[in-house]
Amino acid sequence: MPLKINFKKVPKALKIVTGILAIILAAAFIVRQIPVNEIELSYSTRDISSKAIALTFDDGPGKYTPRLLDILNEHEAKATFFVTGKNTEKYPQYVKRAFDEGHLIGNHTYNHIDFYKSTFDEVKNSITMGEEAIEKAIGEKPIFLRAPYGNATTIQLKLLDRAFVQWSVSSLDWLIEDSDFVYERILSTAKDGAIILLHDTRKTTIDAVERAIPELQEQGYELVRVDELLTRNGDTIKSGKLYKSCKADF
Ligand code: NI
Repeated sequence: MPLKINFKKVPKALKIVTGILAIILAAAFIVRQIPVNEIELSYSTRDISSKAIALTFDDGPGKYTPRLLDILNEHEAKATFFVTGKNTEKYPQYVKRAFDEGHLIGNHTYNHIDFYKSTFDEVKNSITMGEEAIEKAIGEKPIFLRAPYGNATTIQLKLLDRAFVQWSVSSLDWLIEDSDFVYERILSTAKDGAIILLHDTRKTTIDAVERAIPELQEQGYELVRVDELLTRNGDTIKSGKLYKSCKADF
């Protein structure tokens, strides 16, 4: 006997759930249709066969950034700085120094805007203004973008058309200002391919990193820029994508 559904008898709640599901599926389908573009990196990246970690520093530059750059130099370690446009305008010489010393400069928007609480135009403007501030300081636009708080929806990722970098490990240095805690946290979560979130706006973080870098190197980790980590397997960088580590198994 063929199955006949009398829609009048379908409970209202079921109709609502089905309707919501249909909307979600349609939205997911539309998002998938937005093309993902390959980004040509304007610099060469190295093949890394040893264990590698990317230390990333957000929200700066700040007054502690020169000391961090000294520490990185001393240990021949490379890092990535996701700077805000506002602080780049305040300390352009620190951003230029980091760039000249071989570190990667990424955009963290102009004013640390929360994508979840802002209109699309506000987010877009803040990203563009951040890129312009960086370009003024170092002479080139950044390729990578980190959304403040890691807040970005799938549709925003696609429509903003940038290469987004998140993290596989948060040092929690923004929450617990204790250098022993941050040091322990870095060492206990260190893993090949990790991208570690830190902030060079905090003295406790710089103190922790000063102790952690030689220890990590002692354990055989190479400290590299995010672009080197993400392309170590021969992958190309794509816009509209969110990168959290160099492997998918984090
Ligand atoms: Ni931030």
